[in-house]
Amino acid sequence: MARKKSFVAICGSTRTQSSNLSLLKAIATLMRDEIDLKIFTGIATLPHFNPDLEHPTPPEAITQFRGLLRAADAILICTPEYAMGVPGSLKNSIDWTVSSCEFSKKPTALITASSLGYKGHQSLMETLRIIEANVTNHTNLVISYIKTKVSPTGEITDTGTKEQILHVMHALVALTDHPPFQVMNNQY
Ligand SMILES: Cc1cc2nc3c(=O)[nH]c(=O)nc-3n(C[C@H](O)[C@H](O)[C@H](O)COP(=O)(O)O)c2cc1C
Repeated sequence: MARKKSFVAICGSTRTQSSNLSLLKAIATLMRDEIDLKIFTGIATLPHFNPDLEHPTPPEAITQFRGLLRAADAILICTPEYAMGVPGSLKNSIDWTVSSCEFSKKPTALITASSLGYKGHQSLMETLRIIEANVTNHTNLVISYIKTKVSPTGEITDTGTKEQILHVMHALVALTDHPPFQVMNNQY
């Protein structure tokens, strides 16, 4: 029998009552027959990025974070937008992977779930592009007015949103089945 794929999800919000975290829990449940989704909620525990700290040995929390990403078949990022940009803690976590290349060629999906979300999404897509993440037009999605679409108990209450998320997740699974790097266009 084929091994069940193991994906890691990075939650871009550090709030206890985060809708992005609720969304990730809902996705883990929706996809549980196809993948194991491990949700990483520790971005706020990572030290501030400083290239001087990378050598000779990076901080233990960074070694663990990098190992988690490296071991995953795919990475899903689910994040709000803050002040028209990417939340600082999330960007900090990604900065730690630039020299160690965990995103390079890795099947990746980005869901920005926010009040609006487009500017932060565009900025993070540019970052993912420059670090060579394998993110395509089918594996990125902006969900605006997120608080009207996911309940605090982790239910996706909007049918259209649920369909869009399933589309993204199935496209992400497909990327892991077809490892060659796919070039994305510049939609974002
Ligand atoms: C300081 C701050 C700035 C925000 N800026 C934006 C923004 O620029 N665009 C946006 O869509 N939402 C913005 N929001 C709203 C958040 O996206 C919204 O609260 C979202 O649900 C937070 O995600 P979470 O529920 O996963 O924590 C902001 C919220 C805060 C607290």
